[in-house]
Amino acid sequence: RKRCFRISTGSKQWDSILLGGFQSGSISEVFGEFRCGKTQLAHTLAVMAQMPKDRGGAEGKVAWIDTEGTHRPERIMQIAERFGLDPHTTIENILCVRAENSDMQHEVLCQLAEYFVTGEYRLLIVDSLMALFRVDYIGRGELNERQQKLNQHLSKLCKTAEEFNIAVFMTNQVQSDPGASALFAGADGRKPVGGHVVAHASTTRILLRKGRGEERVAKIQDSPDCPEREATYIITTGGIND
Ligand code: GTP
Ligand code: MG
Repeated sequence: RKRCFRISTGSKQWDSILLGGFQSGSISEVFGEFRCGKTQLAHTLAVMAQMPKDRGGAEGKVAWIDTEGTHRPERIMQIAERFGLDPHTTIENILCVRAENSDMQHEVLCQLAEYFVTGEYRLLIVDSLMALFRVDYIGRGELNERQQKLNQHLSKLCKTAEEFNIAVFMTNQVQSDPGASALFAGADGRKPVGGHVVAHASTTRILLRKGRGEERVAKIQDSPDCPEREATYIITTGGIND
């Protein structure tokens, strides 16, 4: 069996509730309302994955499927500077592909396999998982078809994580209907979109929310080996921090 590793978040508190960071060989999901830092965490992880192992990294390359056009190389460069990495090398080690619709999102994932066979890649980011699926399949009548396509996509993500021992990190949105979330969600009143298909595929699920002032809070909701604890973090020019 290939050796599992964890990629640091950039925040000591957050790393500590995750027992070191986001794990290889399976899918991790963060979900939460807009501006709570999902994309900024993705940027931070894309840098951390390249760091030396003794500093929480995986000394590997990063693939990024961007479904919302929110990948920012200039942010990557700023975060790289915080950690003393060469900014240009750091962006060169990130293969970012923009997907314009959900079919393309899946095709891109399939095409990435030819990069992953090189063994250089340690992290795959999907930011965000559901945005395009939600646009492409509207209404009740299309829900079955959407869930089928989504299931195919998630199976492929799972297989990719296992086969190449890559950490798959995906972001997800929360249900916007407050009535529905109050009825069906857990104590926090926020529920990720995508239903049981996504819930089943994600090995580790983390809820993000806004805290006091600039503070944000991450809460583990589902994990095979981490207890359900909370960590506070902030978003800085240098990425996620305590
Ligand atoms: P959605 O994709 O809209 O659901 O939100 P998100 O959860 O992906 O939020 P995102 O990661 O984009 O976080 C946005 C927050 O990060 C905003 O509050 C910004 O102010 C903050 N942010 C982004 N860049 C910087 C930066 O360079 N410095 C600092 N200090 N904050 C930043
Ligand atoms: Mg985002």
